[in-house]
Amino acid sequence: MNIDKQYPCVAYMETAAKQRIPDFVRDYLYHGISRGVSVRKNVEGLDSVMLMPHYLHDADKPNLRCNFLGRNYNAPFGVAPMGLAGLIWPNMERILAAAAKAHNIPYTLSTVATVSLEEIRQIAGENAWFQLYTPQEPDVRKDLLRRCHEAGYDVVMVTVDVPFKTRRDHDIRNGLSVPPRFDLKTLWQMVTHPHWSLRMLGTGIPQFVNLKPYHEAGQSRNVGRSIRESTKFIEERVGLHITPQIFAELRELWPGKLLVKGVLDPAEAKAYMNLGADGLIVSNHGGRQLDAAPTAVDVLPAIRATVGPTVPIIADGGIRSGLDIARMLALGADFVIMGRPFAFATAALDQQGGEHVMNILKAELQATMGQLGCATLAELPACLHNQCLQN
Ligand SMILES: Cc1cc2nc3c(=O)[nH]c(=O)nc-3n(C[C@H](O)[C@H](O)[C@H](O)COP(=O)(O)O)c2cc1C
Repeated sequence: MNIDKQYPCVAYMETAAKQRIPDFVRDYLYHGISRGVSVRKNVEGLDSVMLMPHYLHDADKPNLRCNFLGRNYNAPFGVAPMGLAGLIWPNMERILAAAAKAHNIPYTLSTVATVSLEEIRQIAGENAWFQLYTPQEPDVRKDLLRRCHEAGYDVVMVTVDVPFKTRRDHDIRNGLSVPPRFDLKTLWQMVTHPHWSLRMLGTGIPQFVNLKPYHEAGQSRNVGRSIRESTKFIEERVGLHITPQIFAELRELWPGKLLVKGVLDPAEAKAYMNLGADGLIVSNHGGRQLDAAPTAVDVLPAIRATVGPTVPIIADGGIRSGLDIARMLALGADFVIMGRPFAFATAALDQQGGEHVMNILKAELQATMGQLGCATLAELPACLHNQCLQN
């Protein structure tokens, strides 16, 4: 199969992924919350950002390289944290971590990943970042951060946009659970999606491995009991409203770069920086938390104006192409992360997915910059065609 020809952009991988994963997994990955307005607006908001080409500018060799948070990367994008990635496609975390290292871009591991933070640091090296869902018990959060530090992580992003238990209608209806509930409906979905099922047989049932040491059954040989306990532990004891006091404590505990993920309000962006954050992720969690949340496109210009030009800002939500990356950078982001596009690519192309989609995004971004007349990423904001934001 010639994957360059068959999958020239994310949209084709999205379609293929949909066919290769069971319905309850598809719903978990594709949907957002409530009526899905916010998921749709993330994409539509980016579509509405117009960029002005400058044909008199010379950009024969657009340069995607950037220095971000004190490190050089080959491109201004990385992989966003996705919990339960191993349920979406077996081995997804390992596949994407290895691809990120090969492309020299960041890979972010979720607290609720299905591969250990220590293993991912080995695979991705310095390209590994960690996302923290903050455990309620001080000793547990302290220990998780200690493990990140000992494993060699530098960048930790604290997710602040889950202050309350999330209600996602599709997941409730599907009875999405870990371990998956094998009723007739899910079994039928597995039989009719053999690519996913056969690989899942190879890896075994996904587990929340990073949290296993913190509950009673964590070391048990009984896998089923251990998984159920982990899930219960996450539901009851992981996830905390990040008050200024908790944030200050995390700042004190973490010696590396501490980013805040889920910032939408310009005033709060400033407040987090005053509390000692090293950077911000402007994000509505891929439309998965609040269906009335503004998009990164809506708020990025105001956040950039409020915090000033030097604060490191990452944006996410709805980015599906190199053109969308250029749009976010034009609006004021220094860097972007994406979730679903990487999941679509892995589900569509298994081992080849991560590398392939990273190549595509780089080629698209380069073509966009060449078309706009931008030789460097720093020139993108000058291409923002402001009229689009007044609509
Ligand atoms: C399946 C899935 C799982 C996610 N899990 C997490 C998570 O564990 N922690 C987190 O901070 N964000 C999580 N997110 C949000 C992503 O990190 C990111 O903000 C979002 O996917 C960006 O939107 P996009 O999917 O349109 O690129 C998840 C998103 C998806 C799609």
